[in-house]
Amino acid sequence: MSRDLDALTASTLKYLRERWWDDNFARFLAEVLQPRPGCRLLDVGCGPGTAEFSLADHGLRDATIVGVDLAFDKLDQTTAQPWPDGVRLAFAAADAAALPFACASFDSTFCVAVLQHVNSIGDPVREFARVTRPGGRIVVVEPDNSARYWYSSAETGMQAFEVASRFYSAVALSGGDTTEPAVGPKLTQIFAQHGIQPLSVQLFPVSVTRIGNPPWEVWENRLEMARQATARARDEAVRRLGIEYRRLLERYAEEAAVAGRDFVEIQSTPLFATTGRRLAE
Ligand SMILES: C[S@@+](CC[C@H](N)C(=O)[O-])C[C@H]1O[C@@H](n2cnc3c(N)ncnc32)[C@H](O)[C@@H]1O
Repeated sequence: MSRDLDALTASTLKYLRERWWDDNFARFLAEVLQPRPGCRLLDVGCGPGTAEFSLADHGLRDATIVGVDLAFDKLDQTTAQPWPDGVRLAFAAADAAALPFACASFDSTFCVAVLQHVNSIGDPVREFARVTRPGGRIVVVEPDNSARYWYSSAETGMQAFEVASRFYSAVALSGGDTTEPAVGPKLTQIFAQHGIQPLSVQLFPVSVTRIGNPPWEVWENRLEMARQATARARDEAVRRLGIEYRRLLERYAEEAAVAGRDFVEIQSTPLFATTGRRLAE
């Protein structure tokens, strides 16, 4: 089942990893990390190792990259493709909030789309500062999930987006999720509080435009995700909102089918790539 960019299926960018790892983003990261021959880089929340493989493709040579992730199934996927030449890779299971490394053991540390899933953001950022040598780079890339842009040519599409935003936020809250949806723009302040001098912020929009009625799988995925989220909700009011949302989705799918080739849907979420320099103690 397709899990494409969708403000109608989740409150965060969690299904969109492949959407931001394009050449432009990989080139940016390779440049901003300032890798020198023999340097050691740490990737926190590395997932299936996309950064490691992309950076090797973008000229990173004679470096060691250590990737850590909380999820064993993600780490298992790092062995699914042949490891690139010229870069030494190591992967391990670890929590961003308690990194199993000595102080100042990396030249640069980076973290992409991870803190949006973490409840207490200060803890991992403190760890990034601890394990990075003074003067080293720290790059954190996170979205502002509260600033999603949405356009639909169908009237019900605009309503569906509004109800989806309320519904998925309520589902997250009712499940005890206290993550910060607008983490992206707050990173410079969080850096400054943990001994990291903010140097720059660059925005990368993660976007999809659909022209013409999307294939049935898109609608099926939206309906199925809404069904699963409704079943997960602990609160009766949230379940009712889920049922209302599914009805809206069905109506929206019908309107899109009637519009056919004239149907248009545009969505985008900004990713904030914040670069900082680890200050000396
Ligand atoms: C959206 S994926 C991003 C993966 C990768 N950084 C990328 O850009 O392709 C988020 C990853 O963060 C990991 N993660 C979530 N919380 C974590 C934590 N506290 N410590 C380490 N990894 C964590 C998840 O297991 C998942 O692999």
